[in-house]
Amino acid sequence: MKIYKAKDYQGMSRIAANIISAQVILKPDCVLGLATGSSPIGTYDQLVEWYEKGDLDFSKVTTINLDEYKGLSPEHDQSYRYFMNHHLFDRVNIDKAKTFVPDGMEPDSEKACADYNEIIRQSGGIDLQLLGLGHNGHIGFNEPAEAFEKETHCVTLAEKTIQANKRFFASAEEVPKQAYTMGIRNIMQARKIVVVVSGIGKAEIVKQTFFGPVTPAVPGSILQLHSDVILVGDEEALSLIEETTQA
Ligand code: GLP
Repeated sequence: MKIYKAKDYQGMSRIAANIISAQVILKPDCVLGLATGSSPIGTYDQLVEWYEKGDLDFSKVTTINLDEYKGLSPEHDQSYRYFMNHHLFDRVNIDKAKTFVPDGMEPDSEKACADYNEIIRQSGGIDLQLLGLGHNGHIGFNEPAEAFEKETHCVTLAEKTIQANKRFFASAEEVPKQAYTMGIRNIMQARKIVVVVSGIGKAEIVKQTFFGPVTPAVPGSILQLHSDVILVGDEEALSLIEETTQA
């Protein structure tokens, strides 16, 4: 694992965006696995800025997002499809037909998940997966559990996740209780993984995830077994770990 410590959120975002840019430049028709949450917003802003300068071309890129709330439509301003359109897809020259997010409006969980696994399979695999990290160590919406779920599945969100995400909704009651998420195998099959973390609130879980035991109780800990993981964090999020590359 490679670790880059940036001074702050903006620095973290620039490093992550640089890595994604390199991927897009080296392989213009690459498959990017994308994430939502507050952590990657700055990364997307930076990519948009470089796109506007003429340095990046997304026309051949395919994207596959990690997860979506079950029951939210693409028009709902808290759906992850809406988030992606707003923060990235509507701002660059990506072909929307090549952007994938699980179908939150599909009530049949089995169908929604099987369809999504097929999309991932047909894409030829994810070249670079961008990840945030939940406060309980979740990646995508793979919540702490007794075992790692392998493929796309429907999850019941942990109370901690609902509490963390309620800031985006009028109240905790309005946060959907279920979501569709890629599974751990889907994520681990990505050729490269970039994790972005910021803020002191993530320091403890970052330490547990990357230096603690590998356990489904901390889903992100499985990333320790991946051969090409890059952790990009700000000083606060990385404050409890030692070996870092200053950037
Ligand atoms: C959400 C998302 C995750 C995200 C995580 C952390 O629940 N499903 O993909 O990584 O929470 O969010 P944030 O970056 O806002 O801390």
